[in-house]
Amino acid sequence: MSQPVLHVNHLNKVYGKKNENQFHALKDVSFDIESGEFVGIMGPSGAGKTTLLNVISTLDQSSSGTIEIAGTNITAMKQNQLADFRSEQLGFIFQDFNLLENLTVYENIALPLSLKGVSTRHIKPSVMNVAQKLGIEKIIDKYPITISGGQKQRVAAARALVHEPAMILADEPTGALDSKNAKSLMETLVHLNEKLNTSIMLVTHDPLSASYCQRILFIQDGQLYKEIHRNTTRNSFHQEILDVLAEFATSNELE
Ligand SMILES: Nc1ncnc2c1ncn2[C@@H]1O[C@H](COP(=O)(O)OP(=O)(O)OP(=O)(O)O)[C@@H](O)[C@H]1O
Ligand SMILES: [Mg+2]
Repeated sequence: MSQPVLHVNHLNKVYGKKNENQFHALKDVSFDIESGEFVGIMGPSGAGKTTLLNVISTLDQSSSGTIEIAGTNITAMKQNQLADFRSEQLGFIFQDFNLLENLTVYENIALPLSLKGVSTRHIKPSVMNVAQKLGIEKIIDKYPITISGGQKQRVAAARALVHEPAMILADEPTGALDSKNAKSLMETLVHLNEKLNTSIMLVTHDPLSASYCQRILFIQDGQLYKEIHRNTTRNSFHQEILDVLAEFATSNELE
């Protein structure tokens, strides 16, 4: 089997310094994401989902344990190396898409490459290639204010993908969307995953969005609680997800 794109091993995250009020937000978390997998992370509010994503995305530091992304141990890296690693190996999709209104679609997609200092003549083929794959080549010279919500999402996805990262990370990307746009964003992610073999890790509260994933890891109180695989239709996977979330609701009532 090929090496996983993400290998998380005995990961711990404690907020606060010694002798302060400490909070153990991640407790001995271990899991892998295989290359080309689409994995969802779910769990109650405060479970540690964003903490996990921030530590994996190198925006925050773990307290112990290791994280390997595409074979590189990021827990051993220095701050300046981390910034380079992040800009090369990771793609991000944010809740509000973060498109810059005074840049065209083309310029928005090109941003990760421009920031890396890639030369203009190398940027164009990469931008046009990813725009074509996402069906937005016709709106490439427009400004975000003049395009639809669905097109904005595809621009955000193109920007996350243009530098060919090892993995895309998304925290609640459908959180601010109506159900139609949420569905269309999830279909875009499925397209990236199935057609372009992009590895995706998605944090979401929304069971319907999660049902588009191949596998869901549930975390509770900073620990892995359960994992389920999608073996059948999306509808029955949706129901399975709702059943696990109902277990959380019941255990909270017992507390
Ligand atoms: N900077 C911090 N300092 C101290 N505690 C923190 C800090 N950030 C988060 N926490 C605590 O860590 C726990 C996990 O927070 P986290 O944001 O990862 O949860 P989450 O699963 O993303 O929740 P939500 O679903 O509400 O977004 C929470 O109890 C939170 O209060
Ligand atoms: Mg969160």
